[in-house]
Amino acid sequence: MPDTYKAILADETDGVFQARLVELTDSALPPEPVLVDVAYSTLNYKDGLAISAQSPIRIPQVLPMVCGIDLAGTVRESADPAWRPGDRVLVNGFGLSERHWGGFAQRARLKPEWLVRVPEALSLEQAMALGTAGYTAMLCVLAVEDHGVKPGDGPILVTGASGGVGSVAVMLLAAMGHEVVACTGRVEESRAFLEGLGAARLIERSQLARDSRPLESETWAGVVDCVGGQVLATALAQTRYDGVVAMTGLTGGVALNTTVMPFILRSLTLRGIDSVLAPNERRTRAWTRLAELVDPARLAEIYQVAGLADVPGLADQILGGRIRGRVVIDVNA
Ligand SMILES: NC(=O)c1ccc[n+]([C@@H]2O[C@H](COP(=O)([O-])OP(=O)(O)OC[C@H]3O[C@@H](n4cnc5c(N)ncnc54)[C@H](OP(=O)(O)O)[C@@H]3O)[C@@H](O)[C@H]2O)c1
Repeated sequence: MPDTYKAILADETDGVFQARLVELTDSALPPEPVLVDVAYSTLNYKDGLAISAQSPIRIPQVLPMVCGIDLAGTVRESADPAWRPGDRVLVNGFGLSERHWGGFAQRARLKPEWLVRVPEALSLEQAMALGTAGYTAMLCVLAVEDHGVKPGDGPILVTGASGGVGSVAVMLLAAMGHEVVACTGRVEESRAFLEGLGAARLIERSQLARDSRPLESETWAGVVDCVGGQVLATALAQTRYDGVVAMTGLTGGVALNTTVMPFILRSLTLRGIDSVLAPNERRTRAWTRLAELVDPARLAEIYQVAGLADVPGLADQILGGRIRGRVVIDVNA
């Protein structure tokens, strides 16, 4: 086996930040106990933020940084008894691409506690077709379920529905028997895609991205919000008594202009969802449930496969809201 491997490395030269495909030597790998042969990674919004020169924020906190918040592969060596050569593993978050070298690479050295066993029912490619976006969508759906919202209780709104988290949330909620309403800025372009995933109907983003009253007509039994900003504020004003809003994203802005009214008059719950530092028990629960709920044929509809060399261009596209569904990165392509 060669002692070099390919990776997307972010670095700064003469004050100019750039992430590009490079060849690294094995000796450059961080000194962590588990060596993984990476098979696939995937592109998330946060990867766009980490890689694109257009990004408004700097995700890598140390440079040089191998980017990629997700990876799936096979353990080659482990100095920790929890993992053995041949184990199929995945990692989501845990500071990959921020403080630790990440998944846009053919090899990675990782801490044992970051690894999750890939469920039997999923291939490594399918695990990354879900990736952080799919696992976060599952965390949001579990928050809605844990709140007690059941199929038949009323429509569930998913915002940013054509994106990674949104499209998987639509797919999961529909598979559980919920009536799903998909909110998107691309109604005509995404209609067949979202209805194919099980959305009962679509609404145009502009119906929510507007000034809202503190309380509006009670509509949603639950909400999965990937957008934030004014879309979230309006969704809160429209959620039914005792409803729950699982909030995870910021593509529509970080400000939240709301009032106490939905909370004190409608007993509303706003649940923040973080995937990066979620404890392992929560991750394993989410991945186990994903493996049970995901229909492989439907999953196949939501992703495309690209190579490592495509990552910088795709990063600009995801920040521009031009990616639909998911992109798997085959690191050996
Ligand atoms: N907290 C966590 O741990 C966590 C984990 C994963 C993701 N996230 C966050 O969740 C969000 C979605 O991530 P993702 O990977 O699914 O990204 P994505 O694939 O880019 O999807 C985001 C979607 O948001 C909508 N959107 C884009 N620009 C918008 C704008 N200016 N105003 C309103 N809506 C806009 C688009 O959907 P439509 O075209 O359908 O409107 C887009 O497809 C991101 O903010 C990401 O950072 C957070």
